[in-house]
Amino acid sequence: MYTFVMIKPDAISRKLVGRILTMIEDQFKIVKIRSKTLTVPEVEKLYAEHQGKPFFNRLMNAYADKLTIGLILEDGGDAIGKMKRLAGATHPKDADPATIRGKFGIDVPDNSIHASDSFDAFIREAAIYFEDIV
Ligand code: GTP
Ligand code: MG
Repeated sequence: MYTFVMIKPDAISRKLVGRILTMIEDQFKIVKIRSKTLTVPEVEKLYAEHQGKPFFNRLMNAYADKLTIGLILEDGGDAIGKMKRLAGATHPKDADPATIRGKFGIDVPDNSIHASDSFDAFIREAAIYFEDIV
């Protein structure tokens, strides 16, 4: 199955992309990859479920008008669950040290990567970066 990942601006500015991609490639095949600077409406679409929450403005400031990298990943099983486990807990301080956020995340919202949490989210989020989804 497939999942979508965004490498967040904090990881790019701290030159962590290569190390994060190595961890991803150890477990997944990269099907699509592109860099993209997200607009405000695109961040609203990416994080539609969080609009109106107290921390939404912080998400917007952290991700809009900054370079990101979008990926579609494939593996033979539950790619969505497996990628969420590899990402680690939302707050890097709670994340297992073997996970991407445990190794590289600093805080919220600068926790280095986003990963889709459902098939519907994968479709909505991947469409922000890619015209024809796999
Ligand atoms: P994503 O893969 O980025 O969607 O993270 P997640 O699924 O682990 O967490 P969630 O969807 O609940 O939150 C989305 C993003 O909002 C997180 O990655 C955090 O960066 C940020 N976030 C979540 N909770 C808080 C919070 O309480 N305060 C702040 N400032 N940011 C938060
Ligand atoms: Mg989420």
